[in-house]
Amino acid sequence: MYNARGDEMRIVSEKRDVRDYHAQARRGGASIGLVPTMGALHEGHLSLVRRATQECDRVVVSIFVNPTQFGPGEDLEKYPRDLEADAAALEAIGADLIFAPAPAEMYAPDACTTVSVGGLTEGLCGQFRPGHFDGVTTVVCKLFNIVQPDRAYFGEKDYQQLAVIRRMVRDLDIPVEVIGMPTVREADGLALSSRNRYLSPQERAAAPKLQAALQSGAAAGREGAAGAEVERIVAEQLAQEPLFRPQYIRAVDPGSLEPLEDRSGPMVIAAAAYIGNTRLIDNIRVEG
Ligand code: PAJ
Repeated sequence: MYNARGDEMRIVSEKRDVRDYHAQARRGGASIGLVPTMGALHEGHLSLVRRATQECDRVVVSIFVNPTQFGPGEDLEKYPRDLEADAAALEAIGADLIFAPAPAEMYAPDACTTVSVGGLTEGLCGQFRPGHFDGVTTVVCKLFNIVQPDRAYFGEKDYQQLAVIRRMVRDLDIPVEVIGMPTVREADGLALSSRNRYLSPQERAAAPKLQAALQSGAAAGREGAAGAEVERIVAEQLAQEPLFRPQYIRAVDPGSLEPLEDRSGPMVIAAAAYIGNTRLIDNIRVEG
């Protein structure tokens, strides 16, 4: 396959092949960008890849449905997988290498090392998905070591994940520049997500109300409402859509992710809600 830049795009499943690729690229003085994904790619993922192709000579995209970040009863088995469609989309926008390993290639049967970021992982999604962020930071750390990119690209849609990865990179002195990118949305405001394909037509129609509720909270936040009041406004609006079962709604400090409670100012309002069996997350940032 040839990508949009006229180079051959390769798909590999072994770490050894990625290391060889890396060595060759480095010999030619090329910079390397990494976009870690779990596949079932949509325009949100592709926006990260496009940015990477603008800033890096070589772009590696990993596609790996990482079992260690799924909890018992979560959607590991039914998580959408479509390597062929993903490869075609990546080739069309100029990715150079897809790394799509099997779980056994990523994890030795007796692997017993975990990268764990404290503090930042306790609230928000961390409170409801125990072990999730350990799975994320461990696999992302491994991907950084395998690919050794100069830059790595993540979406603000997973705001807590981005903050946790930035902290891991700082705390462990990992030599990679982490770049956060804005959330890509459908025209009606729904954040693109691989999980949106689980939604029934009725659920899909209701789903944009999550972002709409966050926007109401943000408007109040911009006018000086404190964190708790902002959360109340979002909760009240979400409650008007009976299909939603909110898991959390929190206005937090954008850096520490600590709840703001009675404080106002810059904040991220983050929420997770079930709609049917599908768990959606979204957030919005309020500048000071
Ligand atoms: P995944 O959900 O596939 O997302 C891969 C990357 O795409 C993440 O950085 C995510 O924040 C970003 N992304 C998802 N939806 C987006 C949207 N609508 N707009 C912009 N960016 C979006 O996040 C993961 O995979 C995994 O946890 C991973 C980091 C790959 C580790 O396994």
